[in-house]
Amino acid sequence: MKTLLCKFKYSLGHTLLISLMILALQVSSVQADPVYSLRGTVGVDEQSEMVPNRRSMAVDGGIEVNFEDQPPMIPHNIDKTRITLHENSCLGCHSKENQKITNAVRPPKSHYRTREGNKLRQISTGRYFCTQCHVPQAYTKPLVKNDFTN
Ligand code: HEC
Ligand code: HEC
Repeated sequence: MKTLLCKFKYSLGHTLLISLMILALQVSSVQADPVYSLRGTVGVDEQSEMVPNRRSMAVDGGIEVNFEDQPPMIPHNIDKTRITLHENSCLGCHSKENQKITNAVRPPKSHYRTREGNKLRQISTGRYFCTQCHVPQAYTKPLVKNDFTN
């Protein structure tokens, strides 16, 4: 009787184990959609497709902002401007001194203050890399439909 019970327990455990293994196999064979980076299927050691050069948008009088405190978009081409440790050609036109001659829009007071609100004579280092916040626009077809209204 004892051996019979033992055998029964053994076979029950055995079947349970096998069914669990089958289940695990089934679960692992369910494949998720492959995940791609922005490079798509192009390998990291391969040349990615060239981004086509789009015509920059040039808008007289600037581009209307969509919400309060939005950094206004750059309404002109910036292909020839450079922002490096040693030069910032945006300031070549936009700095307080140069804008009097170039007639470029003068950066607001906020750009001449430290984070603590102290006034500065030069543009704040926190605002030095203009394109961190201000971006140009190009004439392209939108990738997705957008119904946003301001
Ligand atoms: C050759 C001179 C020149 C250079 C260089 C230049 N800009 Fe401008 N920018 C202008 C002028 C002029 C306007 C005004 C255009 C208008 O309103 O018709 C302007 C407008 C803007 C505006 C719009 C402001 C508003 O209130 O709508 C932004 C933002 C701006 N520029 C950012 C930049 C940034 C960032 C760079 C560097 C990447 C840069 N600009 C380089 C001349 C220049
Ligand atoms: C950290 C983000 C940030 C950086 C960096 C920055 N800006 Fe701005 N800028 C803004 C915001 C936000 C506004 C609008 C709100 C305001 O007036 O502060 C603005 C407004 C402006 C305007 C519009 C002024 C007007 O009266 O319409 C100009 C011009 C401008 N920035 C030029 C520049 C230039 C040139 C640089 C680089 C030297 C620069 N900004 C760097 C965020 C930034």
